[in-house]
Amino acid sequence: MASWTFGLDLDETLDTPVFLQIARAILEAIQARRLKPDERLPGTRTLAATLGVHRNTVVAAYDELVAEGWIESSPARGTFVARDLPLARVRRATTGLARRPGFDLLHPPTRRRPQDPPRDRRTIVLAGGAPDLEHVPKAALARAYRRALFDRRAALLDYGDPRGELALRQQIAAMLAEERGVVATEDEILVVRGSQMGLRLIADAVVGPGDRVAVESLGYPPAWVALGRGRLEPIPVDADGIDVDAIAALVERAPIRAVYVTPHHQYPTLVVLSAARRLALLELARRHRFAIVEDDYDNEVHYRGRPVLPLASQDRSGVVLYVGTLSKVLAPGLRLGYVVAPAPVIERLAEHRRYMDRQGDRVVERAVAELMEDGEVQRHARRMRRLYGQRRDAFLALLDRHLGDVLRVESHDGGMALWAHAPGIDVDRWADAAEANGVWFATARRFTFDGRPRPYLRLGFAAADEATLARAVRRMTDVVP
Ligand SMILES: Cc1ncc(COP(=O)(O)O)c(C=O)c1O
Repeated sequence: MASWTFGLDLDETLDTPVFLQIARAILEAIQARRLKPDERLPGTRTLAATLGVHRNTVVAAYDELVAEGWIESSPARGTFVARDLPLARVRRATTGLARRPGFDLLHPPTRRRPQDPPRDRRTIVLAGGAPDLEHVPKAALARAYRRALFDRRAALLDYGDPRGELALRQQIAAMLAEERGVVATEDEILVVRGSQMGLRLIADAVVGPGDRVAVESLGYPPAWVALGRGRLEPIPVDADGIDVDAIAALVERAPIRAVYVTPHHQYPTLVVLSAARRLALLELARRHRFAIVEDDYDNEVHYRGRPVLPLASQDRSGVVLYVGTLSKVLAPGLRLGYVVAPAPVIERLAEHRRYMDRQGDRVVERAVAELMEDGEVQRHARRMRRLYGQRRDAFLALLDRHLGDVLRVESHDGGMALWAHAPGIDVDRWADAAEANGVWFATARRFTFDGRPRPYLRLGFAAADEATLARAVRRMTDVVP
């Protein structure tokens, strides 16, 4: 039998009840192998006397350990450390997993997935859409989160509405009416975990296998993956945005189900869809009854005048499915986005969502709604717009000074990245050499449909301060091919 000194200092002033203190001490002794499997433990009366506690306290400690499977007890034999400890069971199970054979029944992926940028700390990543996370109002968010979590009446840890918290839908409705000219009721809004989920839900609800979907090319590959079971039709983009005549020509040949567009700052080229093409696209969709999936992902980030309003603000015939995100204005890790559409569409999307994800994170949704109601998000957006504007000016000046004879920035008045032309340069070789030299940027090839190279770069600047941008430009300059 073990000698009964498993380092037990009972302390009745602690919040932890005495029976748990005893149970934990025995558990530590078992885990440290000071008590071995099948080793006998003292009877409850003996141990209670040794420790100077009531016998029931020891009984409760043993019961706890029996329930967790660490010890076994029978009236005939007494109490023993379990022969088959929970830890050993876990270890055996995982060793079994490691030996499992490969799985050969996967569907082939529907399309090429772009690789994520590197995550090591030494590489400066000029990723196209990343916001600055240092300045996110974390303290206010934490306070709002705590308030939401402890709000007993709201009971936010329970199941909730798959469409998202009413408070957040109301705040989003108010924001859209004020900032984007989009009028929607709470029933016409679905809160999702990022616009990526919104795109996926829309695809499931609207696009059948093999249905034609027109997409911008160059374009946003994650949307192509989300829309993947449709037959994607790449439409060229020029200085006025997506070529609407090309969509019209396509529709004449065969019906299309939807078109995915980024009219505000075309992704990745940042051009703005011209007013004439906006009207033409809305009219085309009305006439041929196809959906316009409008991704308005960074409308908060513009530096001159008021931003152009979305197609959704001019939709008189119910063809636009509008997708927005808080990933740029707050933080992508919060996973908060939204879809605005007629109520029956929202109901259908919510039903799909219910069987995939049930609902969003209610506590986060309520906390962010509070920040919006307090004007905190709007103040943050204004501060960030100013900061990004300064960084953009500094970045433009650096690029002009060090790479002015190599790069021509096709400047636009908004966005968190620059689109730059590098005529005559093998930009993919440059990107490889730059990554080896500690700076990562995307080249046009990443956004093409045919995978063919083009001499353009997309350089994200919003997440980097001016000193980091200066270092990045030096590292790029060192390795121009
Ligand atoms: C075109 C586009 N849409 C949407 C998003 C945001 O996606 P999510 O809301 O899923 O974070 C991004 C972010 O990079 C984007 O570039």
